Amino acid sequence: MRIVLLGAPGSGKGTQAKKLAAKYRIPHISTGDLLRAALAAGTPLGQQAKAAMDAGQLVSDEIVLGIIRERLRASDAKKGFILDGFPRNIAQAQSLDGMLRNLEQPLDCAVLLDVDFDVLMQRLTGRRTCENCGATYNIFTNPPRLDDQCDRCGAALRHRADDNEVTIGNRLRVYESQTKPLIDMYRTQGRLETVNGVGDEDVVLKRMLAMLEPFAKGTRKPKLPPLPAPIPVKAKPVKSVMPAKNKSLLAKSLKTHGKMPLKSPVKQAPPKKTSVKKASGKHVGKKSKPKPGHAKKKSAKAAKSTKKHKRGKRR
Ligand code: AP5
Ligand code: MG
Repeated sequence: MRIVLLGAPGSGKGTQAKKLAAKYRIPHISTGDLLRAALAAGTPLGQQAKAAMDAGQLVSDEIVLGIIRERLRASDAKKGFILDGFPRNIAQAQSLDGMLRNLEQPLDCAVLLDVDFDVLMQRLTGRRTCENCGATYNIFTNPPRLDDQCDRCGAALRHRADDNEVTIGNRLRVYESQTKPLIDMYRTQGRLETVNGVGDEDVVLKRMLAMLEPFAKGTRKPKLPPLPAPIPVKAKPVKSVMPAKNKSLLAKSLKTHGKMPLKSPVKQAPPKKTSVKKASGKHVGKKSKPKPGHAKKKSAKAAKSTKKHKRGKRR
């Protein structure tokens, strides 16, 4: 069994994931739990994640993908897993598909725990978690027998640092903008299953098990995600060979002619009569006037050369 649990903060992902993990004997992998553990241990990774977690924002994809990549390679994840709180955006979901493709372990499906917004607030503000065994309680709906003490191991219960109203507001906004698009993505790919997350915890579990049964029995095969689109090769920009002067002429001409209607309703004026050389070589039409002084100069020159010629003949 390989599934992703999707749902808003407080929808019951952690609560159901623990129960499913016990039932199918596969690991429950929660990025939130892994990040909190890194923070509690004071590792550099935990320190890097702290600011985003305190603000109710997403920790960087780079950090989260590093954690998940390592966790999925562990031997206990070979027989399956339940991912809780991961992926949280489209980029993480695509990276997950890539990792699972390489491991030849496709997801069975993504399960959305559907819970109304007003219920979420009560669940989050009332949550108490055991700092030793991780058991989850709720002071409104599922209180411990003794105040602030775990029923199972007797350790102290704590209120999560990000379960205050301001941070909860931010987490819900981040869910709306970044995680909700995953619902559409998995639905379009035919890999989404929706389970009503409102009702007693064990009633919700029964709904989950009924939906997952065909996958557990192997009678329903997972749908494979689409292959990633090939990265387009960027064409080199072709350098224009047109000189700048021509470019401006072209632009001018387009400006003038581009706006002109194809067939102008205005009658065109007849072309002006200009001197046209006939096949015979004679000019017709208007004779061009010689430049003043030009003809005189020419005849003086001609007379001079005739004189010279005559003198030469006499000698
Ligand atoms: P994370 O720990 O994943 O928190 P979350 O998504 O906000 O979800 P929660 O754990 O608050 O809710 P849940 O659905 O697990 O509900 P639960 O079962 O506990 O993430 C925390 C932070 O880490 C993020 O804000 C982010 O900064 C960072 N992070 C984590 N993953 C990341 C990622 N992939 N990328 C980037 N950053 C990441 O139940 C809640 C309460 O309701 C409990 O009190 C429970 O007892 C009660 N309850 C449960 N089910 C029921 C029921 N059926 N009826 C009544 N009460 C119920
Ligand atoms: Mg959780």
